[in-house]
Amino acid sequence: MPETTFIPVGKQSRAFRDALGCFATGVTIVTIATDHGPMGFTANSFASLSMDPPLVLWSPAKSSARFAHYASARHYAVHILGQDQPDLIARFIRGGPGFEGMSYHRNAEGVPLIPNTLARFECEQHATHEGGDHLIIVGRVLRCAQREGAPLVFAMGQYGGFAPES
Ligand SMILES: Cc1cc2nc3c(=O)[nH]c(=O)nc-3n(C[C@H](O)[C@H](O)[C@H](O)COP(=O)(O)O)c2cc1C
Repeated sequence: MPETTFIPVGKQSRAFRDALGCFATGVTIVTIATDHGPMGFTANSFASLSMDPPLVLWSPAKSSARFAHYASARHYAVHILGQDQPDLIARFIRGGPGFEGMSYHRNAEGVPLIPNTLARFECEQHATHEGGDHLIIVGRVLRCAQREGAPLVFAMGQYGGFAPES
């Protein structure tokens, strides 16, 4: 096994980012309704938090141009991407086309929903917490949905599929 190297964590540390990249995550698109239309945000900071009450969390950067919309949104939906949906990632990062030319529907709260993602959590904002240069947004899950398929996995700056051991 290769030896672990200890590197001091400084401001904007590449080493810190690289070490964090060893933690594999899924990829989500968090959607909200705004006065300017539907909005989506590619995020991998999603995590499950509580079963009772049902809570999930994610964290947008305060530096994001879309931050104010997400911090104040009362309702939102977190879409978990399937392995067959990597094309959605680039749509919802900075400069991406967003919902342009894409079909979607809206839930009872008016939140835009992307059809056919691997899973979806429709949320109501429950709490926010300070998180340095990010804001931790905790949502209470009102509804969830799931389809058959494997998740898209993000690790070490790359996307891939999920290969179970057995
Ligand atoms: C795989 C992936 C995961 C990301 N996860 C987050 C995240 O959890 N929080 C965040 O603030 N930005 C995240 N980003 C970056 C945002 O999607 C977005 O590009 C960034 O906020 C800047 O865009 P904006 O200023 O137009 O909002 C992620 C990007 C990628 C490609």
